[in-house]
Amino acid sequence: MDSPTAEDIQVLRREMSRMFMHYKFGMNEVLTKINILREEFAHVHDYNPIESVSSRLKSPDSVLEKIQRKGCTYSKEDLAIHVRDIAGIRVTCSFVKDIYRVRDLLIQQQDITLVDERDYVAHPKSNGYSSLHLIVTVPVFLSDGPKDVMVEVQIRTIAMDFWASLEHKIYYKYRGKVPVQLDEELKQAADIATRLDYKMQALKEQVDALALEDPEAPSRKDEMQREAIDRLLRFSLEIADNDKAKSAAFKAEEQR
Ligand code: GTP
Ligand code: MG
Repeated sequence: MDSPTAEDIQVLRREMSRMFMHYKFGMNEVLTKINILREEFAHVHDYNPIESVSSRLKSPDSVLEKIQRKGCTYSKEDLAIHVRDIAGIRVTCSFVKDIYRVRDLLIQQQDITLVDERDYVAHPKSNGYSSLHLIVTVPVFLSDGPKDVMVEVQIRTIAMDFWASLEHKIYYKYRGKVPVQLDEELKQAADIATRLDYKMQALKEQVDALALEDPEAPSRKDEMQREAIDRLLRFSLEIADNDKAKSAAFKAEEQR
């Protein structure tokens, strides 16, 4: 492909600033949906499947770099096909089953369209990377009508997130050429994280089964409801702080 001219880049930058605004709106729509699910689920089911939610918009430089890396043209059409992660949301869950629960609750919503799905939880990458990736579109209602915006949603457990953030640092430290020994150890760490996730899931199921058998459970119902309301109030405050910190870290990640 020919190198872009200065004019090409300028036109693209102008279009991009409008587009970025649309991506931000789309990201906020999906974020709102996830936060509603999170609070409502915690209230109704007295259980919170979502540990943290972070989001970031790709920087314009990073988008340009990706276009060059992928060797595609500087058109909106190519951008939509090849750069699907301009708006990115990352959701961490405590348990593996929650990943699929969050996925289902999100994509069954009327205005969400699932464009692509990569299940690296069921089929981890060869380096051990594991997460569920969804590419969805959501309509945003602009002054000249609705526009579908693409958003990447990565859903993973805390253990998968821990592994991915370390692997990401190592990958960048070695500029993508990780020594074989370290690669092997990372793979082993990923296997341990997977085993931990399945063990934690099994333990949770045992605890849930015990709670169902608890004879004192009905008499504690009122007390539990009061506690649930208190928790909900505290919860909204706490998650806001935690998510802010996570989003800052997500934004700081360089793109691979
Ligand atoms: P890009 O178009 O380059 O974003 O990747 P892709 O189209 O091949 O999509 P994929 O779903 O494989 O990866 C998208 C995103 O998932 C990346 O931008 C990372 O945030 C994350 N990711 C994918 N693979 C890895 C990995 O091996 N390690 C870590 N730490 N993150 C990964
Ligand atoms: Mg990406």
